[in-house]
Amino acid sequence: MSRMQVSSMRRSAVLLALLHFCAVNPARSLNFSYTPFRDHINDKDFLFENSRIYLNAVQVTPDVSNEASIMNQAGRFLYKKRFKLWGKGKASFNSTFVLKIDPKTNPSGEGLAFILTESPTLPENSEGEWLGIVNATSNGSAKAKIVAVEFDTRKSYAEDVDDNHVGLDINSVYSIQQVPLFSYGVNLSSGTNYTVRIEYANQNITVFVSQTNETGEGMENAPVLSYTVNLSAYLSQEVYVGFSASTGNKTQLNCIRSWEFNSSHIDEDSNLLWVWIMVPVVVLLLVTGVSCYFFWTRRGEKEDVLPRIQDEIQTTSMAPTKFKLKELQRATGRFNPKNELGKGGFGTVYKGLLGDKEIAVKRVSKNSRQGKQEFIAEVTTIGSLRHKNLVKLIGWCYESHELLIVYEFMPNGSLDRFVYRDESLGTEMGKPTLSWERRRSIIFGVAQALDYLHNGCEKRVLHRDIKASNIMLDSAFIARLGDFGLARTIQQSNLTHHSTNEIAGTPGYMAPETFLTGRATVETDVYAFGVLMLEVVCGRRPGNQNEQNNYNNSIVYWLWDLYSRGRILEAVDSRMDGDIDEDDMACVLMLGLSCCHPNPHERPSMRTVLMVLTREDDPPALPQERPAFVWPAMPPSFKDDTDSNVAEGQMTPLTDLSGR
Ligand SMILES: *[C@@H]1O[C@H](CO)[C@@H](O)[C@H](O)[C@H]1NC(C)=O
Ligand SMILES: *[C@@H]1O[C@H](CO)[C@@H](O)[C@H](O)[C@H]1NC(C)=O
Ligand SMILES: *[C@@H]1O[C@H](CO)[C@@H](O)[C@H](O)[C@H]1NC(C)=O
Ligand SMILES: *[C@@H]1O[C@H](CO)[C@@H](O)[C@H](O)[C@H]1NC(C)=O
Ligand SMILES: *[C@@H]1O[C@H](CO)[C@@H](O)[C@H](O)[C@H]1NC(C)=O
Ligand SMILES: *[C@@H]1O[C@H](CO)[C@@H](O)[C@H](O)[C@H]1NC(C)=O
Ligand SMILES: *[C@@H]1O[C@H](CO)[C@@H](O)[C@H](O)[C@H]1NC(C)=O
Ligand SMILES: *[C@@H]1O[C@H](CO)[C@@H](O)[C@H](O)[C@H]1NC(C)=O
Ligand SMILES: *[C@@H]1O[C@H](CO)[C@@H](O)[C@H](O)[C@H]1NC(C)=O
Ligand SMILES: *[C@@H]1O[C@H](CO)[C@@H](O)[C@H](O)[C@H]1NC(C)=O
Ligand SMILES: *[C@@H]1O[C@H](CO)[C@@H](O)[C@H](O)[C@H]1NC(C)=O
Repeated sequence: MSRMQVSSMRRSAVLLALLHFCAVNPARSLNFSYTPFRDHINDKDFLFENSRIYLNAVQVTPDVSNEASIMNQAGRFLYKKRFKLWGKGKASFNSTFVLKIDPKTNPSGEGLAFILTESPTLPENSEGEWLGIVNATSNGSAKAKIVAVEFDTRKSYAEDVDDNHVGLDINSVYSIQQVPLFSYGVNLSSGTNYTVRIEYANQNITVFVSQTNETGEGMENAPVLSYTVNLSAYLSQEVYVGFSASTGNKTQLNCIRSWEFNSSHIDEDSNLLWVWIMVPVVVLLLVTGVSCYFFWTRRGEKEDVLPRIQDEIQTTSMAPTKFKLKELQRATGRFNPKNELGKGGFGTVYKGLLGDKEIAVKRVSKNSRQGKQEFIAEVTTIGSLRHKNLVKLIGWCYESHELLIVYEFMPNGSLDRFVYRDESLGTEMGKPTLSWERRRSIIFGVAQALDYLHNGCEKRVLHRDIKASNIMLDSAFIARLGDFGLARTIQQSNLTHHSTNEIAGTPGYMAPETFLTGRATVETDVYAFGVLMLEVVCGRRPGNQNEQNNYNNSIVYWLWDLYSRGRILEAVDSRMDGDIDEDDMACVLMLGLSCCHPNPHERPSMRTVLMVLTREDDPPALPQERPAFVWPAMPPSFKDDTDSNVAEGQMTPLTDLSGR
């Protein structure tokens, strides 16, 4: 089939989908049941923010043994589809779940909540007393559009009755009704399984709580809390449903073991009026659709990028905003060179001001076809991803041949400005370097982002260009992985002698097998991440930037050499001040080396990397001498059972970025 045929089939499909969408009433309800949750298998059904499914339960806040990384955390876990909460029909839903709160400190903190919300994103700074529901800005504001049933395990405010209560929260952490639970024989933070049932019908929300018995069911019980409220007055018609939780300087693990949810089918009244309105609308759409169809077909290949972008973006529920060119011109002072933040083969990044919000606008240079492909990939891929360690894509614009992508602004720029000690960038000389604690948290942040891309989101995403200049730092020096897709273009056009178009990435970060297979895999991302870890600890560039195959001349070789001589700590950047933990540094360096193993099968998965970083696991064993690069690579002699799920996905050429 030719490309033309494929793309016209695509258009017909889109047209059909559009008509289908208009003709069918958009009422939606949800019925689902996870008893219990299953690791990896259920991941695709949910949106995770600082949460994950692990040990057959949702860990709404991180579940790791490193005490520091479970403090001051907020997490959110939502079913990925919104449902129609109200309409002309009567709103009702039932939600039954088993929660288990494991105290980690005495007393424990802070709590967990069942939430209905318009926005899938966790508010910034909503950890601690805010329960991941709102933050100091949105507390009490009608704009928050969130309703929560909180299971509060800490008395954080004077208003809280005690440290063991259930409460109903509307757009606020302040409960309009709260009921202490001790008198019901419930001690939330005792590590007991409790079955909670929340029913909403006839504008009456009712909460039942009881201990879960051996068969996994709750006891028949009188309701604990019952309140009359018209949720339609506070929430939009379509809402996400799920959980949020938080910890503060007192901590606990917040788990949901199982969850069943049913909502009623909300129908619009199907009266004659509806028919009279809808029939002409459908006819009109049909006519417009058909003429658009012919219009697009006529316009042919060259101009098809805009409709394609719009089609693809419209199908994702969390579509990034489409901006007008005018707005972005105004925001950046008509792309004033004074506002330039950076430049590359792909185009230029400008700082801008949208209202009082700082943004970064990437303006893709007009001359490359590649640019458009990558543009679609970037907007559709990261546009639908949400993670605290990913740079947030705010929106996009395609007008008058301008391709623009809008990100949140990162005040501290990219990581490469901070780590290298042989710095040629004169202006950075006086900059304080990063402490060990910061460097470690940057490594951990990038690992979390990459684990999310590989294992945590609906479609596996390969970043393909992990490197220091693609790691951005926010105002608190939290690492945010950025530059999906387009960065590849920079490097490709900068290469003087690339032999195949398939090879993507940056010399120095590319796994040795890439030069033979030309393919990006989960393992090549892990390799690049390994190089990044080594750079961050050593403060050195990854290797000879000019050679394509510089495997022999790299930070990896240099470090193997030190390691085999038992002198690995000599590699550590001497400029770090503050607390230095040599064991920890050695552990991180060894983990970096194992990620850079020449045999892709021997590299750990990002899940394993995270477990090592949180000290739940030891770093993978390293041979005493640097292993040779042998191709084809030998498969590992045994499979780690606990990791079998990840192992299955290894070595598969997943290039799941759409638009390619
Ligand atoms: C609720 O949803 C579950 C899962 O789809 C289903 O098995 C159950 O029958 C539903 N309950 C009701 C009352 O519809
Ligand atoms: C609250 O969250 C919003 C959205 O995440 C953010 O813009 C705002 O700065 C946050 N407020 C505080 C006080 O952190
Ligand atoms: C949150 O907002 C409510 C109003 O909805 C207010 O009563 C309460 O004091 C606020 N809490 C904090 C900690 O600001
Ligand atoms: C609730 O459980 C925690 C943890 O087991 C315990 O420390 C606390 O004393 C219990 N509270 C009551 C009132 O029993
Ligand atoms: C809670 O439930 C899980 C599985 O449903 C079970 O393995 C565990 O033993 C229960 N815990 C307690 C304290 O009953
Ligand atoms: C709300 O529903 C619960 C249980 O279905 C019931 O016990 C309670 O009386 C109802 N409250 C109102 C105000 O209707
Ligand atoms: C568990 O509770 C359910 C519902 O109350 C009940 O039907 C079942 O018999 C109980 N099972 C046990 C072992 O207690
Ligand atoms: C509930 O609130 C919505 C939105 O404010 C309103 O349209 C609806 O009439 C209310 N329902 C009742 C029964 O008051
Ligand atoms: C712990 O957090 C509470 C508020 O959540 C705060 O009042 C207290 O000062 C904090 N303690 C420490 C040691 O940070
Ligand atoms: C919720 O459960 C009640 C019984 O407890 C049932 O009558 C009602 O139909 C259920 N609602 C939905 C939407 O499944
Ligand atoms: C979910 O179950 C409710 C009854 O509890 C039913 O009215 C609705 O149509 C079901 N929705 C789907 C999508 O199955």
